[in-house]
Amino acid sequence: MTIIPSSVVAVIITTLIAFITSATLIHGLGSGSTVAVSYGSNTICGIVAEEPTQRIVCYRGGRIISVLPNISFSSISGGRNSFCGLTSDGRLLLCWDTTSSNTTLHFRRVYYNDTVLLENLAVDGDEVCATVNGVNVTGVVKCWRGDRSSQNLPSEVESFVSISSGLGFSCGIRENTRRVRCWGNNAIVTEIETQFGNMPMWSIIAGGSHVCGLNTSGSLLCEGSNSSGQLNVPTDSSMEFSKVALGANHTCAIWKSNGTVVCWGGGGQFLVNATANISFESIESGFNYTCGLTKGNFSIICWGPGWPNNQSYSDLPLPKILPGPCVQPSSCHV
Ligand SMILES: *[C@@H]1O[C@H](CO)[C@@H](O)[C@H](O)[C@H]1NC(C)=O
Ligand SMILES: *[C@@H]1O[C@H](CO)[C@@H](O)[C@H](O)[C@H]1NC(C)=O
Ligand SMILES: *[C@@H]1O[C@H](CO)[C@@H](O)[C@H](O)[C@H]1NC(C)=O
Ligand SMILES: *[C@@H]1O[C@H](CO)[C@@H](O)[C@H](O)[C@H]1NC(C)=O
Ligand SMILES: *[C@@H]1O[C@H](CO)[C@@H](O)[C@H](O)[C@H]1NC(C)=O
Ligand SMILES: *[C@@H]1O[C@H](CO)[C@@H](O)[C@H](O)[C@H]1NC(C)=O
Ligand SMILES: *[C@@H]1O[C@H](CO)[C@@H](O)[C@H](O)[C@H]1NC(C)=O
Ligand SMILES: *[C@@H]1O[C@H](CO)[C@@H](O)[C@H](O)[C@H]1NC(C)=O
Ligand SMILES: *[C@@H]1O[C@H](CO)[C@@H](O)[C@H](O)[C@H]1NC(C)=O
Ligand SMILES: *[C@@H]1O[C@H](CO)[C@@H](O)[C@H](O)[C@H]1NC(C)=O
Ligand SMILES: *[C@@H]1O[C@H](CO)[C@@H](O)[C@H](O)[C@H]1NC(C)=O
Ligand SMILES: *[C@@H]1O[C@H](CO)[C@@H](O)[C@H](O)[C@H]1NC(C)=O
Repeated sequence: MTIIPSSVVAVIITTLIAFITSATLIHGLGSGSTVAVSYGSNTICGIVAEEPTQRIVCYRGGRIISVLPNISFSSISGGRNSFCGLTSDGRLLLCWDTTSSNTTLHFRRVYYNDTVLLENLAVDGDEVCATVNGVNVTGVVKCWRGDRSSQNLPSEVESFVSISSGLGFSCGIRENTRRVRCWGNNAIVTEIETQFGNMPMWSIIAGGSHVCGLNTSGSLLCEGSNSSGQLNVPTDSSMEFSKVALGANHTCAIWKSNGTVVCWGGGGQFLVNATANISFESIESGFNYTCGLTKGNFSIICWGPGWPNNQSYSDLPLPKILPGPCVQPSSCHV
């Protein structure tokens, strides 16, 4: 048996994490995540790292909730009272009702197919959408559950590279033009589409009634409702964000330079001093709080006016969470 010095292990771990993180960035922001917030029940879920199985575990109101089945997932996405997970091979999509139990959540199978695979998971309310990749189709949006009355749904000939869901609407980036295309029952969608216009986008994330994303030259642009200043992107260095998370009426983003988070909108209540020096891998927002996966120890911390500890942040008692979706099993071991 070879004994590997812990410093070497640390270097390997750091390299793998850097690899996973950069791989994630290539896929953009709207491709699901390893952290999901189910905002109606304030349930925060993550895909665990450092275990043979990349299982999902959740937290709500001081309790850890276990999630069945105990199998590996690559990405998860949260809606109102549910969240959904996609297995690493893209064949299986499962969803869980977060209000059904305080101890163990049982799944419902939403999709299974060996040849027509899914990617780009997005959950809006209780509707779940994903892009489909089969023999003759790539990037076609397919949706399940929900009320099925969404306006202006994409057709079978429209392909998307990324999709994201807000409150009562979803938006995607069209494959050919990289233009923003939105659908759903929220009247804001027309305004959002018009405001983005022809701007070629790299990634987008939808919030309450606004949408933010990086354009193809890396600038962060936000469009839609500005009722609480949520479009008011800090101007001096708009080239410098890596990821964003949008709540009902606030926006948070990670500075590329040092990984710290800055938030705007929502009455200025989301920028708390306690998180100023913490670097993050990724962030996700609920209605009126934001959660982030820390770079330092891969724990999830949450803060904001809608979070119980609203002057500071809470460190959730979850196991270490995977920093980003990893599709190749060999890249999934942190
Ligand atoms: C999940 O399954 C793996 C093996 O597949 C096992 O090692 C692990 O203990 C299980 N974890 C839980 C929480 O059941
Ligand atoms: C979960 O716990 C909360 C508060 O303790 C309780 O109100 C609720 O009924 C419980 N839900 C279930 C499904 O057990
Ligand atoms: C997978 O999808 C294809 C094309 O829609 C269909 O022909 C096939 O029956 C599906 N397989 C399963 C197992 O559902
Ligand atoms: C991205 O947005 C910035 C700021 O609005 C703009 O200067 C730049 O031209 C845009 N990039 C493209 C490719 O349109
Ligand atoms: C959004 O609102 C803020 C004030 O809350 C204002 O300073 C800013 O100019 C507005 N931005 C847009 C794009 O309307
Ligand atoms: C939006 O933000 C304001 C504070 O600016 C707050 O009073 C209001 O309740 C928020 N609305 C929603 C839907 O969260
Ligand atoms: C947060 O930090 C700023 C600058 O460091 C300081 O002016 C402000 O009083 C602090 N706010 C709180 C609530 O501690
Ligand atoms: C953040 O770091 C700065 C500079 O080191 C320090 O002054 C400040 O107190 C730190 N803030 C917190 C909340 O730790
Ligand atoms: C992180 O970088 C941003 C933007 O460059 C800067 O405003 C902020 O003060 C930095 N924070 C720390 C803790 O260095
Ligand atoms: C992880 O990091 C956070 C933020 O720096 C800190 O509050 C927390 O105590 C750390 N947790 C563990 C288990 O070390
Ligand atoms: C913060 O939480 C306290 C106690 O839960 C509550 O009384 C207060 O209104 C909250 N503040 C904000 C800004 O939501
Ligand atoms: C946060 O949003 C929830 C709705 O999801 C609401 O019930 C709660 O009152 C809000 N809290 C604050 C402090 O705005």
